[in-house]
Amino acid sequence: MRQYIIAGNWKMNKTVSESVILAKQIVDAVKDIKNTEVVIAPTFLAAAKVADVVKGTNVKLAVQDVHWKDQGAFTGKVSIDMVKEIGAEYVIIGHSEQRQYFHETEESVNLKVKKTLSAGLKPIICIGETLEQRNGGILESVLTTQIEGAYKDLSADEALKTVIAYEPVWAIGTGVVATDEQAQDTQAFVRSVMKNIYGESVSEAVRIQYGGSMKPDNAKGLLAQKDIDGGLIGGAALKSDSFFAIIAAAEAQ
Ligand code: 13P
Repeated sequence: MRQYIIAGNWKMNKTVSESVILAKQIVDAVKDIKNTEVVIAPTFLAAAKVADVVKGTNVKLAVQDVHWKDQGAFTGKVSIDMVKEIGAEYVIIGHSEQRQYFHETEESVNLKVKKTLSAGLKPIICIGETLEQRNGGILESVLTTQIEGAYKDLSADEALKTVIAYEPVWAIGTGVVATDEQAQDTQAFVRSVMKNIYGESVSEAVRIQYGGSMKPDNAKGLLAQKDIDGGLIGGAALKSDSFFAIIAAAEAQ
C-alpha cells in the first residue's frame, strides 16, 4: 500500500514569524494523524525556524528548491548541505513556476534530483502540462519528456525514494481543478511511463501526488482515485484549517 502524502507548498508566502505560527497550528492540528505523511515547505528564510517547530512531531519539513552544486559562488542559491543540516527531508524540484519563470530545464531538474538523493533527502518531482499542450494533443509527450528528463541515469532504488507531483499548470492557483477522471487518467499514464522505465514493482510503489487547486471540497474525490497518492497544495495550505481538512480527507480514505 502506498502511504498518502499531503504536502503544503507555501511558495513565496508568509514571513518568518507568520511561518512559525502556521507551522505550530499545523503541528497541533495533525498530532493524531497516524497514516498520512504530512509535509510543509516554507520559504528558505523561514525553513530553519520552522524546522525547530516540527522537530519530533509528525510533520516533516521540505524546501522549495535546491542548487545542484555543493557550495561556492552562486549568489542567491542554497545548497543541499544547508538544507540537510536543518533537518529537511524533502525537496520540491521542477515546480512549474520554476520552469516558467526561472529557467528550470529538464537538465537542471535532473541535477537537483541527483544532488538531493546523494545527500539522503527525497525529491518531490513536479511535472505538468499547460492548457495549450493538453488541448494541442501533446499531453503524453510533454509528461514523458519531463519524467525521462528528471529520472535520467537514476537507478530503481533511487527512483523508489522519489515522489512525483502531477500538477497541471492550468489548475495551479486558478481555482480550476482537474476532474477526478482527468487527474486519474493522467496519473495512470504517469505511472505507466514509470513502468516502462523501471518495471512494475517500482511504478506501483512510487507515490504520485496531484496538485492544482486541491481544496477541502474536492480533495476527497481526487484522493479516492487509484493513482492519486496525495496532494501538493498551494493556496489551501496557507491556513491550518483548510490544510488539515485535506489531510483528514486522506486519512479517511
Ligand atoms: P494551488 O493549490 O494554489 O493551486 O497550488 C498548487 C501548487 O502549485 C502546489 O505546488
